[in-house]
Amino acid sequence: MEDFKLYIDGQWVDTEEKAEVLDKYSMEPYASVPQASEKEVDQAVKAAEDAYNEGPLPPYERFKILKKVSELMQERKEDLALTITKEAGKPLKQARTEIDRATQTVELSAEEAKRISGEGVPVEASPGSENRMAFTIRVPVGVVGAISPFNFPMNLVCHKIAPAIAAGNAVVLKPASKTPVTALKLASLFHEAGLRKGLFNVVIGSGSTVGNQMMQDERISLYTFTGSSKVGLKLKQNTGMNKLILELGNNSPVIIDKHADIDKAAENTAAKGYAFAGQTCISVQRLYVHGEVKKEFENKFIEALKKLKVGDPNDPDTDVGPMIGEKEAEAAVEWIEEAKSGGATVLHGGTRKGALLEPTVLTDVDESMKVVSEEVFAPVVSILSFSDLKEGVKEVNKSKYGLQGGIFTQNVDNAFYAARNVQVGGFMINDSSQYRVDLMPYGGVKESGWGKEGPKYTIEDMTEERLVVMNLDDPS
Ligand code: SIN
Repeated sequence: MEDFKLYIDGQWVDTEEKAEVLDKYSMEPYASVPQASEKEVDQAVKAAEDAYNEGPLPPYERFKILKKVSELMQERKEDLALTITKEAGKPLKQARTEIDRATQTVELSAEEAKRISGEGVPVEASPGSENRMAFTIRVPVGVVGAISPFNFPMNLVCHKIAPAIAAGNAVVLKPASKTPVTALKLASLFHEAGLRKGLFNVVIGSGSTVGNQMMQDERISLYTFTGSSKVGLKLKQNTGMNKLILELGNNSPVIIDKHADIDKAAENTAAKGYAFAGQTCISVQRLYVHGEVKKEFENKFIEALKKLKVGDPNDPDTDVGPMIGEKEAEAAVEWIEEAKSGGATVLHGGTRKGALLEPTVLTDVDESMKVVSEEVFAPVVSILSFSDLKEGVKEVNKSKYGLQGGIFTQNVDNAFYAARNVQVGGFMINDSSQYRVDLMPYGGVKESGWGKEGPKYTIEDMTEERLVVMNLDDPS
């Protein structure tokens, strides 16, 4: 079993208390990681504060380090992908894609480090300010507290760390306790790339210990969190005037219009409803299908999902692997059972073996059922129907969430009506909700959170705009 250490102030730090990380397919322990106590969390925040107080790295230095990290990431791609497959149970081909995406995220952050600038402010336009010139600069916020989820143990960590470093901040990261090894391997890449000690620290432990302590530490200026809306709300309530970037829950809707290319819509949504066992925040969860094409769509959707290979995530052909744990799979089955007792029909799946839940499709569902109204975060898709697009959009908007959504249609009026009226942070036309490239602004409305990921946008949040005004005298 491999042994790992915390990364604090540029050093690998051991602790008395350890936890085992399980291989999520075999459920055997495969790594041992230290558990940070109050002392190590305090040391990490202090190291970050001290490193930040030494003054920000010049932007060209931030660029060089981030660029180097992205190159190292490609060099170590296979090891990093295998680590994700082991600790998250993510199918290997999706884990490899994650490393490619994370490489992009870090590289984009490197490029953005060179573009951080303010703007001129025409204060002379105000009477009495004739002899003044003004401009804004963007300055780092200070220490960033990052709390990341299990579902993208590399890329969602990179979306927090790389823009923070690009913006000139210092970071303390608490990765998900089920998938901490990938984050430690990322720290070793930053170490090797020569990042100044203290600018990036990793502490491991549970939300109720390490997370809570970080939440109450006044030396942290900004929190960036991806996870449940419940925890996001707790962060909001406990972090006073601090800045927050919150990527929270979601139950992505996709509309299948009567003018859709049904083959394309079925293939696409079946793949995007079940990738990584539905455990992404933009996984297709609610399909709103026009009544005239519902039967045809259902048949083609089931045909497409039967082609997905379910099972061992280490097999490079697998599309759908296990969920993150047996408990989570059990909870999803309970929601399926609850829907069935409320009148839902299971068109496919519905049963599990350990953490492996069969790709499941439900219909005859409604808003009162958790599989529709809550974030299921499992390979479970619900098919609803509508007869008029405006009514369909109203149904979609009943959700308390709003991260991303989509519509399949060949009718441009319908496409734009949906794009303008569905309440989400990102909307896809002729694609499903689960479209993301790492440069785009990514973030939700309503209980899906606020603030944006995408290095350019995160850097805006991770810097403060400061106004500088020069009061000039006449030349002498
Ligand atoms: C998420 O689950 O929020 C991230 C989805 C992605 O980056 O593809």
